[in-house]
Amino acid sequence: MVSAEFLQELPKCEHHLHLEGTLEPDLLFPLVKRNNITLPDDFPKSVEELNEKYKQFRDLQDFLDYYYTGTNVLIKEQDFFDLAWAYFQKAHKQGLVHAEVFYDPQSHTSRGISIETVTKGFQRACDKALIEFKITSKLIMCLLRHIEPEECLKTIEEATPFIKDGTISALGLDSAEKPFPPNLFVECYQKASSLNENLRLTAHAGEEGTAQYVSDALDLLQVTRIDHGINSQYDDELLDRLARDQILLTICPLSNVKLQVVQSVSELPLQKFLDRNVPFSLNSDDPAYFGGYILENYVQVSKDFPHWDHKTWGRIAKNAINGSWCENKRKNDLL
Ligand code: HPA
Ligand code: ZN
Repeated sequence: MVSAEFLQELPKCEHHLHLEGTLEPDLLFPLVKRNNITLPDDFPKSVEELNEKYKQFRDLQDFLDYYYTGTNVLIKEQDFFDLAWAYFQKAHKQGLVHAEVFYDPQSHTSRGISIETVTKGFQRACDKALIEFKITSKLIMCLLRHIEPEECLKTIEEATPFIKDGTISALGLDSAEKPFPPNLFVECYQKASSLNENLRLTAHAGEEGTAQYVSDALDLLQVTRIDHGINSQYDDELLDRLARDQILLTICPLSNVKLQVVQSVSELPLQKFLDRNVPFSLNSDDPAYFGGYILENYVQVSKDFPHWDHKTWGRIAKNAINGSWCENKRKNDLL
């Protein structure tokens, strides 16, 4: 098994990180105070109680209920900055060099907070991460799939200035997967793409949904990356396609265990993906909720795949760099 020091030193790229999912209990409670928030009566009352709750979730929806309640404490531009900056500081210590990070504007605009407030706060943290840590980053705006597609079109309209000027680099799709398949969002993806030809497209698919959700995201939404995608393992033709077109799967090992998608990281089809030349990266998803940032995910995978040598890990790190949406010069510097 490779050492934790080796994994720490590997230049790591993160492609599947929800900024709202980095809200640690020890920031959540101070924000409750700072912003005078009233939490639901049955919400845990202390950092310890909340950490206890985060030990296990029944499924994706059980987690999402806590996740959306957590987002309610974020009000001011400074709150969004503080949240993202705390993430960059932690990830920098773990050897992060490039991050493509999600955020969910609709979980804030639905509470009367403007998309400018959210985006500017997050962007300011990205700018600081570049200056202080030389970490490059991209913002990915996600649509919440439990929100009506017509509403999502309005969100895209509100985000238009940021899509046009490139502040938002990519569009994603998250939240409860199974009841809301990709075909519902065709118009949204078309509309967003029409605003900027450089806008990249991705979507959560094949986490709880079937391999068909992955194929549909590729065919109908024209995405060039798949978030999670682990259920692609059950479709041979799809695996061939992912390998042929070098579609990056952004895998989240600790998340998959915490949400009981698998019982242990060893069940993940990572060896199959390597054998079939399907590129993937390893990511933390919602680290405040799932018990680990990027390095903890790498370390857990190394424990569950102890036969992977330095060369294999080098290949994984390179696949993550090559699958990134940064400029070619940055990629070459990282390779
Ligand atoms: N899946 C779907 N929606 C999400 C996730 C996830 O893993 N994390 C935050 N929103
Ligand atoms: Zn996710």
